[in-house]
Amino acid sequence: MNTKNAFIVLEGVEGSGKSTQSQLLSQKLSSEGVSTLLVREPGSTNTGEKIRALILEGSELNPLTELFLFSAARSELIQNEIIPALDSNTIVVCDRYIYSSIAYQGYAKGLSLDTIDEVNSIATSHISPDLVFLLDINPKVAFERKKSDPKDRFERESMGFHNSVRKGYLSLAESNQNAWHIINAEKPTEIISEKIWQKVITFLT
Ligand code: TYD
Repeated sequence: MNTKNAFIVLEGVEGSGKSTQSQLLSQKLSSEGVSTLLVREPGSTNTGEKIRALILEGSELNPLTELFLFSAARSELIQNEIIPALDSNTIVVCDRYIYSSIAYQGYAKGLSLDTIDEVNSIATSHISPDLVFLLDINPKVAFERKKSDPKDRFERESMGFHNSVRKGYLSLAESNQNAWHIINAEKPTEIISEKIWQKVITFLT
């Protein structure tokens, strides 16, 4: 396949199937001979993975501290992985990005959206994705699906919290209709991956 570079982000509540879909998309691109980098937030760099463990397994943090920690991990990822990949015509598939900070630290934890935008802009050097897939699902249904997994700090939050995260994502999708695609994440895995694939092909060709 002849392609241009692209930055593709998948977002969604816990258990929406983002990680599975990110992997499927990156495998599919690679199998078409396209140079692809799959990364996740927070993480995918040495320091980013350490920050991830600190946030997810450590004790309760105030939302502003949390924002700075996610943003520090994000800055490592942008500078060390994403920018070099895009510069060498690699397609980047990213499991969560700045929108997770807006939905979780903003909509669900009440941090000012202006503050989040400001910090995000600095952390990302203003790099925005070409495509964002929102895997939209009722959090109650998503939690039913992954009932038995051990829970991290965010997964232990209330259903009200997760509903606010979802609401945040939906309003982001509403106001960014060019780049965002809402995908019904209650559908079977293959249907979802095919929907995402069609949108990616349309963008790339
Ligand atoms: P993860 O295990 O990656 O969740 P999932 O498998 O559902 O993607 O854990 C990341 C958690 O961190 C997730 O609960 C969302 C949260 N998060 C934020 O609150 N803000 C952020 O900016 C990011 C990137 C993640």
